[in-house]
Amino acid sequence: MMPDRSSVSFEAIDHAATALLRGDLVIFPTETVYGLGADARCDRAVAQIFALKGRPHFNPLIVHVASIEAARQLGRFDTLADRLAAAFWPGPLTLVVPKRDDCGISLACAGQDMIALRVPAHPVARELLERSDVPIAAPSANLSGSVSPTQLDHIAPAIRDHVAVQIDAGACSVGVESTIIGCGLTAKTALLLRPGGVTREAIMDLAINVQTSDPTQTIKVPGSALRHYAPKTKLRVNATTVKSDEALLSFGTATLSGAALSLNLSPTGNMIEAAANLFAMLHRLDRAACRTIAVMPVPESGLGVAINDRLRRASEISPC
Ligand code: TXA
Ligand code: MG
Repeated sequence: MMPDRSSVSFEAIDHAATALLRGDLVIFPTETVYGLGADARCDRAVAQIFALKGRPHFNPLIVHVASIEAARQLGRFDTLADRLAAAFWPGPLTLVVPKRDDCGISLACAGQDMIALRVPAHPVARELLERSDVPIAAPSANLSGSVSPTQLDHIAPAIRDHVAVQIDAGACSVGVESTIIGCGLTAKTALLLRPGGVTREAIMDLAINVQTSDPTQTIKVPGSALRHYAPKTKLRVNATTVKSDEALLSFGTATLSGAALSLNLSPTGNMIEAAANLFAMLHRLDRAACRTIAVMPVPESGLGVAINDRLRRASEISPC
């Protein structure tokens, strides 16, 4: 289901485009989650993203562009990257490829010689890219480590109060972040760096081999090492029981009774619906301020891989 463009005025997108060109920040929708965007070439604006999110400076940002051609001006695409881009762009796929020396993007890549590129599918994001005609560096618009926003009202005032323009386009249709694939290691292998909106099965359908670990550690995703996607309430995964002072997140027909508040990712067991609901439900359960959020098992297939990745990392104990 493609998100609605008609609810957003041309003026709102124009304001956002002008703000980007001025070096200000904007909040804008993508099909995965809301992004906190800046002109990727403007280090002063990009520095503000890191500051507002409380994001470590070693953690690079995804650069959003309007087309494959625009992406090729910033990064070097091998045959594998070309095939992936042709198949999944515009859409929830990010490609990490070698950065071109003359691409004009510095701080957003956090000192790495690889660049993460994505052509988003959301019509508002596309129009913003076209009107501003700048590459947009944009992480998810949450405070570092917390749950990503799939609606504007999920975003903390500490971020919203400091941006020039906020574009509200309702709920994001995919609901989990883009799949990140590293290319340029070997000619034939795609390295899955973060599961997301494009499933591993969909990539393998193209007869592309997907590797999940990189023995040479050539490409690192600094953001994956951290506790992430975490609500304030403690999360307990693979729950088979629930207590009356706990909130429950269930999936499918089998559910548990007795929780203080209970939400179901998809009563019919539909993974697309479950992904779209995940972050909004975590936000709602978090607001209930229960002792724990108990999460029932979600099958590890299709988008379930991305859902489980987010749940696992949300349940990790903070390293510090
Ligand atoms: O769906 C998405 O990807 C959303 C929307 C707004 O596009 N963006 C998003 O950005 O999820 P963020 O910053 O929340 O997550 C990006 C991840 C981080 O874990 C970061 O470490 C990794 O991508 N990353 C960015 N540039 C990289 C690079 N050059 N090499 C390896 N990993 C990179
Ligand atoms: Mg994020």
